[in-house]
Amino acid sequence: MKAKKSETERLSDLSRVSDEGEIYQPPAWAGETGTPSMSVYLKRWKYSVEDPEGFWGELARELVWEKKYEKVLEWNRPHARWFVGGKLNASVQCLDKHLNTPVAEKTALVWIGEPGEKKTLSYRDLYTLVNKLASGLKKLGVKRGDRVAIYMPMLPELPIACLACARIGAIHSVVFAGFAPQSLRDRIDDCGASVVITSDGGWRRGSKMLVKDIVDSAVDGSQTITNVVVVKRGGDVFSHEMKQGRDVYYENLVADGDEFVAPEPMDSEDPLFILYTSGTTGKPKGIFHTHAGYLLGTLVSSREVFDLRDNDIFWCTADIGWITGHSYVIYGPMQNGATQIMYEGAPNYPNPDRFWEIVEQEKVTIFYTAPTAIRAFMSWGDKWIKPRDLSSLRLLGTVGEPINPEVWRWYHKTIGAERCPIVDTWWQTETGSISITPLPGSTPTKPGSATLPFYGIDAVVLDESGAELSEGGGLLAIRKPWPAMMRGIWGDEQRYIDTYWSRWEGKYYFAGDAAYRDKDGYFWIVGRVDDVVNVSGHRIGTAELESAFIEHEAVIEAAVVGVPHKIKGEGLVGFVSLREGEQHTEELAEELREWIAKKIGKFARPERVMFVDDLPKTRSGKIIRRLLRNIATGRELGDVTTLADASTLEKLRQQYQEE
Ligand code: PRX
Repeated sequence: MKAKKSETERLSDLSRVSDEGEIYQPPAWAGETGTPSMSVYLKRWKYSVEDPEGFWGELARELVWEKKYEKVLEWNRPHARWFVGGKLNASVQCLDKHLNTPVAEKTALVWIGEPGEKKTLSYRDLYTLVNKLASGLKKLGVKRGDRVAIYMPMLPELPIACLACARIGAIHSVVFAGFAPQSLRDRIDDCGASVVITSDGGWRRGSKMLVKDIVDSAVDGSQTITNVVVVKRGGDVFSHEMKQGRDVYYENLVADGDEFVAPEPMDSEDPLFILYTSGTTGKPKGIFHTHAGYLLGTLVSSREVFDLRDNDIFWCTADIGWITGHSYVIYGPMQNGATQIMYEGAPNYPNPDRFWEIVEQEKVTIFYTAPTAIRAFMSWGDKWIKPRDLSSLRLLGTVGEPINPEVWRWYHKTIGAERCPIVDTWWQTETGSISITPLPGSTPTKPGSATLPFYGIDAVVLDESGAELSEGGGLLAIRKPWPAMMRGIWGDEQRYIDTYWSRWEGKYYFAGDAAYRDKDGYFWIVGRVDDVVNVSGHRIGTAELESAFIEHEAVIEAAVVGVPHKIKGEGLVGFVSLREGEQHTEELAEELREWIAKKIGKFARPERVMFVDDLPKTRSGKIIRRLLRNIATGRELGDVTTLADASTLEKLRQQYQEE
């Protein structure tokens, strides 16, 4: 047997991987522009995990400190505190810091509305608007530590609202504007938000979204909401009502707002935002991040992973309602003083070349999107791409789900003209910043692999017993704390420990993903191992959907599983049993799909609802989703010995195939 190589030896071998398998070497511009070579990456990575305090301590000089910290890291497993005792403010890092530099007059945002309007805001413009809104929020009584919910389509006022909250020390909780009223309400209630910032409407695929109406239904009867701030998206286009005493127009707040609001000096470890994400129970988790560590993690990763330079035009297509938009539209790029594109609408409106039209017109240089979008572009056909001039692009990125190698190759060839490296970035709401990724100038890439850990990320693949695998498949875990890691689940300390730190005696952060390490030490992310389904890059807990099904009067029990889907990555199938007397009709199946879309949001609409008399269960009454998944994907049933009544299963399989 060959002797096992040490981690560093194996990683050092990467310069030699080129002759094995399908490898794409870093582009010609690497090296010319000071991007680190592979050996520099390896050295820095080693330093970052062996001496995190030294590594991050040096980088932390780039943050603007109101008061310098006393200690870089305090690690009381599973609680990390970074830059202990320091004081700073996130809006200062993103805006004030640029004021006396040429960045102040540089374009921060080029916003493009779906119907075609365009607005350009410089860093100074953003600074002014953020101050004015911060002042307006203060006048409404919002104080340090208060929670503010933000429910808004992709309008410039969305990042402005986040930064205004940060400026006064309020904790923002952005809820993706595709969520239904009940989901918004649950999130408002969970964090006890006192204000919602929203818009009257927005455009999506040519239709008006009446956003304010959704907020009205969500906050009706709320015990905590005192005010709703409303951005007018476009004159009087979006009909809406204003409730006296509660609702105020953003425009009025800003018009009356002060030019300058002193930024609240926040402790390094004070929460900056809460962002809800799905887990294994029906209740979404309010993941919270704190100021200093998150800011440093997003500052450094944006610069290194996207190789951000002064003249870049960066376009991350993610909605700010998800973590990608928080980290790589707001905090990362803005701390770097980047120029960004922000687009309101759908990628195929009015035509499937909308994104490429924008890339051509705005001369986008860095483009970061999700595999589901790339699969959709592929399915719409190259004819929408070929006539467009995409020669400004120099770097492509993906995030949110595993990218199939053939989709990667298509992206590389058709969008990147075989010229642009692709950074396939693995990370999570919980990790806060990009965690496993190529560095564009350094890392040879392999289609479908997120490659190697980013600085400070001591990633490993473990087997069930917790043994580290130098090669092969297992569970993805992280050994040490990193600056942008989540600090907890809002109001549920125990759930934080149970979900992320209870396996393997709390020695590792458990990511919830299965992964594979190849002989070069590259990571290949396989997907979730819990009951979380990734639909078009949206993370959905099946338990949340099951609770929603059961709220329908016809339903007695439901189980939801994910199945492979050509465009969405995964789609949802609901197995539903009905109350006595209810009929298995197509109309009811359709009604239930619509019900889920209404209860949770359109993005969660199941592909299929199938009625069953009994769900397969263990003798103790637990639904065995694995068997349902096998039925839905046409796989062998597998081990059925734990089943209480095995005969129902074959029947179910036949029924599924026939319908
Ligand atoms: O399963 C992984 C998948 O998305 C999950 C995290 O989802 P969320 O918190 O919504 O954040 C998504 C954007 C950062 C992960 O547990 N995932 C994310 N990026 C990748 C990925 N799977 C494979 N490859 C990726 N690059």
